[in-house]
Amino acid sequence: MKVLCFGALNIDYTYTVDHFVQKGETLSSKSLQVFSGGKGLNQTVALARAGAEVYHAGAVGTDGGFLLQLMEEAGANIENVAVLDEVRTGNAIIQKDKNGDNCIILYGGANQAITKAQVDRTLQKFEREDFIVLQNEINELAYIMEKAHEIGMKIILNPSPMDEKIPKLPLQYVSYFLLNEIETLQLLQSDDTDDIDGERLARKLLEKFPTAAIVLTLGEKGSVYMDQKEKVSQPIYKVKTVDTTAAGDTFTGFFIAGLLKSGSVKEAMDLAAKASAIAVSRPGAAPSIPVLAEI
Ligand code: RIB
Repeated sequence: MKVLCFGALNIDYTYTVDHFVQKGETLSSKSLQVFSGGKGLNQTVALARAGAEVYHAGAVGTDGGFLLQLMEEAGANIENVAVLDEVRTGNAIIQKDKNGDNCIILYGGANQAITKAQVDRTLQKFEREDFIVLQNEINELAYIMEKAHEIGMKIILNPSPMDEKIPKLPLQYVSYFLLNEIETLQLLQSDDTDDIDGERLARKLLEKFPTAAIVLTLGEKGSVYMDQKEKVSQPIYKVKTVDTTAAGDTFTGFFIAGLLKSGSVKEAMDLAAKASAIAVSRPGAAPSIPVLAEI
């Protein structure tokens, strides 16, 4: 079974800071590092390093060659990535603080130049039951979902970063939601942040989307899988946090690859938890994602 990840590729500029910059403040950073990133690229790299047959679709400018090289070296097919002359590669400005936490500003660039023609050209190479993995950093998401549904592909949505476009998507077609508790609350249009209980949130989302499976990541509290037949709670593997960037993407890629390989949700959740623990113990986005042998 093939996995198509249609998503963003970014050049990540990671600034190490003492604290996140405040309103009106000018802050000197301790270092600047440049990494390959973008939620789409990170999830493709995670899928490939976890051993899945993965195809990436998206777009870069002529400055994005090294991102393509990294995905190819990881084992992903990059034939469906457009290289555009007139627009620069997407980028992210990331502040990383002393706890390894981050905050991110995105510039879409080529990620926002996806055309319906590119979607049609790409999706015609896939069939019923193939997986398509999506995040919210590219344009034409609704069109991609409609077309993938027509073909009968299984749609996996990581609705991140969450914004006003997500509730307008044809979410009834989604087979798997992979998301965190804040994104879940936003999808539920709830502001009940006082008592965030993972299992309760997953159940509420499942009530809203009864044909989907919910994979909810809860930071330090681990993660929960829930569908109509099965519930799995997965604790985290504790490590010293260096950089949390791409931890969620690593979880997503390894969960899907694990599920395709073993068919066992429990094994896939455990694999994903181990892989994301390794990712947070290392700097950067894509470079922090482990290969299967390390796990
Ligand atoms: O999920 C992490 C990613 O989010 C970073 O690599 C950055 O590019 C942003 O897209």
